Amino acid sequence: MVLYLTQDEVKQVLDMKSAFEAVEGGFREMGNKAIEMPPRVYLHFPKGVLIAMPAYMPKLNAAGTKLVTVHPGNKKEYNLPAVQAKIIINSIENGSPLAIMDGTYVTAVRTGAAGAVGIKYLAREDAKEVGLCGLGVQGRSQIMGLMLVRPKIKKVKIFDILPEAIPPFIKDMKAMYPSVDFVAAKSAEEATKGSDIVITCTPSSTPFIKGEWLKKGAHVSAIGADVAAKRELETSVIKKANKLVVDFVPQAFVVGDFAKPKEEGAISEKDIYAEMGEIVSGQKKGRTSPDEITLFKATGLAIEDVGTGAKVYGLAVKKKIGTELPN
Ligand SMILES: NC(=O)c1ccc[n+]([C@@H]2O[C@H](COP(=O)([O-])OP(=O)(O)OC[C@H]3O[C@@H](n4cnc5c(N)ncnc54)[C@H](O)[C@@H]3O)[C@@H](O)[C@H]2O)c1
Repeated sequence: MVLYLTQDEVKQVLDMKSAFEAVEGGFREMGNKAIEMPPRVYLHFPKGVLIAMPAYMPKLNAAGTKLVTVHPGNKKEYNLPAVQAKIIINSIENGSPLAIMDGTYVTAVRTGAAGAVGIKYLAREDAKEVGLCGLGVQGRSQIMGLMLVRPKIKKVKIFDILPEAIPPFIKDMKAMYPSVDFVAAKSAEEATKGSDIVITCTPSSTPFIKGEWLKKGAHVSAIGADVAAKRELETSVIKKANKLVVDFVPQAFVVGDFAKPKEEGAISEKDIYAEMGEIVSGQKKGRTSPDEITLFKATGLAIEDVGTGAKVYGLAVKKKIGTELPN
């Protein structure tokens, strides 16, 4: 039997804390070189792509694949989401599929968790003020991750190119974090200047964060650019950071934030201080001084999806949620 979990059912069992544990655990295993994660496989359709993302983490008893399609025109043409994902979790013992679940919500939450892992190890412990650019799905998820690892944050300056994104964002976030002041910023510059943590999660193709806006000791969580055509950070941000940390070096240099500076000759692979797994597993230190500027570029990894998916499967079995389908 295979357990089928709809998006609503995944939502019933998955919270940010569970996702964080799964993602942090996955990074640790990656740092210990105890995972199998082949490069993503792409199929190119006329109007989009299908991406297969398999991963196996023996010590976490997690194996499976995320299948995700990205069709940017879907909303307009078919009233369907641009990104649609399913995760299949397999038994390590005999290979049988154990669960098929919605992967869209898992992707949203695991990405917030990945940002939070970066903040836990790289941002100042006493961070007070946060700047957030992009108030969509990821804007919300990144705040949920942030508040898990830095619960004392009191002020978040928020910016979106669409002003209408601001009121619903404040309403949603205030309901979850009533003690936090969510203040609308007029520009990315206003959101960034003076912030201890800067989070970018937009699909922008034009870089909009400048290095000169970053204060001493700032941490940048760069989430939005996940393909070559997207870029949020100007090269000056990359140059200003004292520690550049990525989730996976080969993937980082494919996305716009790092690919373009590399093309310009401003950076190369040797300028990367660490992969996040090396820090989480204790092989390299995270932040070592209150004044250094740190940057985490997250591109998204199969271990995040499969680790979180395996956790969802375990929780759903425990809570008897989902529909058993015959093989
Ligand atoms: N790194 C990863 O693992 C990962 C995972 C999931 C999504 N993403 C990426 O994160 C980005 C955001 O995803 P989402 O699901 O939140 O999208 P979304 O459409 O829900 O929200 C994006 C928001 O960004 C705003 N925006 C666009 N350009 C902007 C700019 N220049 N300045 C400020 N705001 C701007 C939009 O108005 C919108 O409110 C996408 O590029 C997505 O592909 C990355």
